Amino acid sequence: MKIAVLKETRPGETRVAASPDTVKKFVAMGASVAVETGAGEGARFSDDAFRAAGAEIARSAADAANAADLILKVMRPTREELAVMQPGATLAAILQPYAEPDLLKSYAGAKIDALAMDLMPRITRAQSMDVLSSQSNLAGYKAVIDAAACYGRAFPMMMTAAGTIAPAKVFIMGAGVAGLQAIATAKRLGAVVSATDVRLAAKEQVQSLGATFVTVDEEAMKNAETAGGYAKEMSEDFQRRQREFVAEHIKKQNIVITTALIPGRPAPKLVTEEMVRSMAPGSIIVDLAVEQGGNVAMSRLGEAVEVDGVIILGFANVPGRLAADASTLYARNLLNFLSAFWDKEGKTLAIDWNDEIIKGVALTHDGKVVHPAFVEAPAPEPAAEPASEPTNGETSGGGEEG
Ligand code: NAI
Repeated sequence: MKIAVLKETRPGETRVAASPDTVKKFVAMGASVAVETGAGEGARFSDDAFRAAGAEIARSAADAANAADLILKVMRPTREELAVMQPGATLAAILQPYAEPDLLKSYAGAKIDALAMDLMPRITRAQSMDVLSSQSNLAGYKAVIDAAACYGRAFPMMMTAAGTIAPAKVFIMGAGVAGLQAIATAKRLGAVVSATDVRLAAKEQVQSLGATFVTVDEEAMKNAETAGGYAKEMSEDFQRRQREFVAEHIKKQNIVITTALIPGRPAPKLVTEEMVRSMAPGSIIVDLAVEQGGNVAMSRLGEAVEVDGVIILGFANVPGRLAADASTLYARNLLNFLSAFWDKEGKTLAIDWNDEIIKGVALTHDGKVVHPAFVEAPAPEPAAEPASEPTNGETSGGGEEG
């Protein structure tokens, strides 16, 4: 059983899918591991550290992937990366099928069994494999640190001989994994923190961190959560009232951090241009949803935009800005996932295609797209008297549970 760890080639991707620690564990499980040279550079894992953990260092992606049964990556492959993978190999990575649905056909065409780590079901058994949680957690922390670094004032209240400095007012929009970590981090820095979400379950979590929960309509929030624990897209009416309410609250904030996502859909627009302009100069907004279209009007991917003295930060790949920790946790997620499907006797991966976890993450298998959210519906039977052109309907790629 050969495992290949490739160097990420997408611009700005600093993370790596294995750490020396996980390589050591895979080797102990009986696998051989080939790490492409320089794969750990961004995370400060040297080739020597991987070698000491038992990996062979490959000179190129093609060398690493040669005869590999399992390929570990962070981000979905580029066409060039896909070209080095051999038919029959299994690929585990953050595949973002909604971002580039066409790639699914390429995996199937190349006979790659593609497992999307970002579709990991939110069930207790899969908690230690949950890459969205491990990465969002770091992103939530880093968003506050980034805001604090740009903010021309202090976060905590300070009583000095020269006078008192008021604490920063921080507002977190979306209190999922990233939002809750942002709340905890801002609290630790001494800010006065408030937060909002559409899921009622978030209220207690926000309050237990010592922040104030603010909302426009608790009644409407009772139906805002899917069985999988994700937010639903809210009604037009709710969104309008939420905007009016947020407009009043935001005016008084110094820092706003937005994290709101809806799986498979563009991020909800929560902060309008008018709201941005209503904030005092020197205020900072961090849009963590910028890669999914953004929660904030005028935020731009990979840029810091200044509007009337308000700075909107739209960093790409925020977990990658903490590459060592993000890689360590991501690598551990992969190890936990693969260990659950490991045949100890045969020292090989033994995927149970009927397992709930695999059904959640498997995009392609045996040359076919298998994920229910992406599989194409069969062409309708031709009717006896065709009234119109037969259509080849496609199932929506926007399932709520991602
Ligand atoms: P996410 O990254 O998909 O979204 C972030 C947050 O934005 C969510 O809390 C969502 O409710 C909120 N949101 C969406 N639309 C909004 C709007 N219009 N206004 C304000 N907020 C909005 O969510 P994440 O962080 O991945 O967590 C989703 C849920 O899954 C949470 O309930 C979390 O506790 C749960 N979870 C469960 C796990 C498990 O059981 N294994 C592991 C991790 C998370």
